[in-house]
Amino acid sequence: MSTQINPNEALTPQPSDSLSLTFTELVDKLQSRTAPPSIDEITSWLSNVQITQTDLEPYLGFKDGNYWRHRVCRNETAEMLVICWRPGQKTPIHDHNGSHGVVKVQQGLMWETMFTYDETRGLCYESARECPTGEVTGAGVPDIHQLGNPDVSGQDLITIHVYAPPLGVLKTYKVGSANVDLYTPNDFPTD
Ligand SMILES: [Fe+2]
Repeated sequence: MSTQINPNEALTPQPSDSLSLTFTELVDKLQSRTAPPSIDEITSWLSNVQITQTDLEPYLGFKDGNYWRHRVCRNETAEMLVICWRPGQKTPIHDHNGSHGVVKVQQGLMWETMFTYDETRGLCYESARECPTGEVTGAGVPDIHQLGNPDVSGQDLITIHVYAPPLGVLKTYKVGSANVDLYTPNDFPTD
């Protein structure tokens, strides 16, 4: 199941007892957890976090060949990444192999394509949608999807990702095929 948050709601100024939090507070929250946070908790945090350019600076970097994953933090319960995408860069079609994940579009335009899988028909296209700056979108278990910065966007994309528990080896799929491959995301800036 996917959830969608109206970006206008996320950006509305909050009252004094608000859920609003800074980037550092979000990282501290994730690092202090002793059990994986739920998809609803992560969605609420990412909807309410205010991330500045200074916060992002250590995690910004683009590559020509592929999107670039920059890890902000990771423990046994959750991990957080900043991913930088040039136009035309996209993930393989994948699931999260038991983790749930929430993405916030920090800057730019993200396309998400959803798929279904059964052993007889293999992988089938289900739906696609466009996520503008400010949108927060969650992928539960066992969603199969592909994320990317469309060629036609004409701009770079920066996204914030929280996965709980942290991603391990993922399964990847091809449309029209029942084959499932394994994929270990590339975490390291030097790779
Ligand atoms: Fe994903």
